[in-house]
Parts: sequence; structure tokens; C-alpha cells
Amino acid sequence: QTAPILTIDGPGGAGKGTISRMIAEHLGWHLLDSGALYRLTALAALRKGVAVDDATALADQARSLDVVFAVEAGRTSILLEGDDVTIAIRSEGVGGAASQVAALPPVRDALLQRQRDFCKAPGLVADGRDMGTVVFPEAPLKIYLTASAEERARRRQLQLQQAGEDARLSTLLEEIQARDARDMQRAVAPLKPADDAIELDTTQLDIPEVVERIETLLAERN
Ligand code: C5P
Repeated sequence: QTAPILTIDGPGGAGKGTISRMIAEHLGWHLLDSGALYRLTALAALRKGVAVDDATALADQARSLDVVFAVEAGRTSILLEGDDVTIAIRSEGVGGAASQVAALPPVRDALLQRQRDFCKAPGLVADGRDMGTVVFPEAPLKIYLTASAEERARRRQLQLQQAGEDARLSTLLEEIQARDARDMQRAVAPLKPADDAIELDTTQLDIPEVVERIETLLAERN
């Protein structure tokens, strides 16, 4: 890769999505939401009745994913086969299916090049689980964002409430813990910090504080 890359990995709910988007906007860099690709693969499979453990069919699905990330007035809409699924892919159900699908090596292989293709000038902010360990191992700055599972469940509940949905904190906590376990214990590309990643615990930090810390680190590296 020729363009500079910042990788931001960590468990769901640590704030990666919002933080990556803000930094990409500030810098005018491209953004890779790699979780969206796994969510899209899972949703496409669910819609077509493909079983979430049929590795071969799912890898085909991932390879031929017809997806458009349409940016308009700073907002990204995600189109799957022309259908706006921006909201649909964020449900807990699709997230759970995504983490099942993501454990299958043929699916990860199928999405690898697609992810690397996002790296273009003037730079890329890559958000995911294995951006620093597998997809962009040569990235000069790798961040690993964490927060306690309880805090992540609270944040998720707030997000759902803002979307007019109701969910019990204890249920959300269980879902988060199950997804963490699956992402960290899988055989391929498990969720873990790269050896050269800088870990940031965001339990006690708000989003502007985290953004500022990462931008300071980035400025120091350049
Ligand atoms: O980040 P997000 O919650 O959208 O990711 C959904 C699921 O996709 C994760 O739980 C994880 O299993 C999978 N994923 C992955 N590798 C990535 C990004 C996401 O395995 N780089």
C-alpha cells in the first residue's frame, strides 16, 4: 500500500465506528467499515436462505456482494443489491449472524482483497477486528480500543433507545459477551491487539477525548 493507514480494532461497542468516522472526516481520508462487509454477507445470506454455516455458499456470497457505500452530505448509505440496508444491517440479529459468518476462513479470504482495495490516497482509516493483525499488518499506527462489557452494553442500550427501541441491559450484556467470546476464540483472525498496537481503554473517556488522543499519536508518527 502506498497511502497512509490508521487501523482501529477492538470489540463491538468500544466506539470504533464513530471514532473512525470522525477521524476520517477530519483528515479527509477514506473509511473502511469492515464489520459492515461481514454484516452485509450475513444479511445477504439470511435473505437468500443460505445457512450461516455453509462456508462455500457464504464465501461465494461474500465474493459477489453487490454493495455500494454512497456518501451524501457526510452520511453513508449502504445499498445491497440496490436496497438501502443502512439500518437493517445494524440489528443484533444481523450482528450475531455476522460474527458466525466471520468465523469461516473462506469468507474471510473472500473479503480480504475487497478490504485492501479501500486503501487509496490520501489515506485510510480501517475499522474492524483484524485490521492491524491481518488486513493491514504494515500500518504505521494501530489502535486497539476497548471498554468494559458493562459500559459497552450501556452505550448500546442508549443507541437503541435513541432509535426508539427498547432492550434490557442484562440481555445486551449477554449478547456482547457472547460475541466477544466468539470473536476472540475463533481460530482465524481472532480479535486481539496487534503486537505493535497502542491500547486505549475508553470506559472513562468520551468520544472527543479519544479522537484527540488518536490524532495526537498520528501527528507524532508523521
Ligand atoms: O464491528 P461490527 O459489530 O459491525 O462487526 C460485526 C461482526 O463482524 C463482528 O462481531 C465480527 O465477528 C465480524 N468482524 C470481523 N472482522 C472484522 C470486522 C468485523 O470478524 N474486521
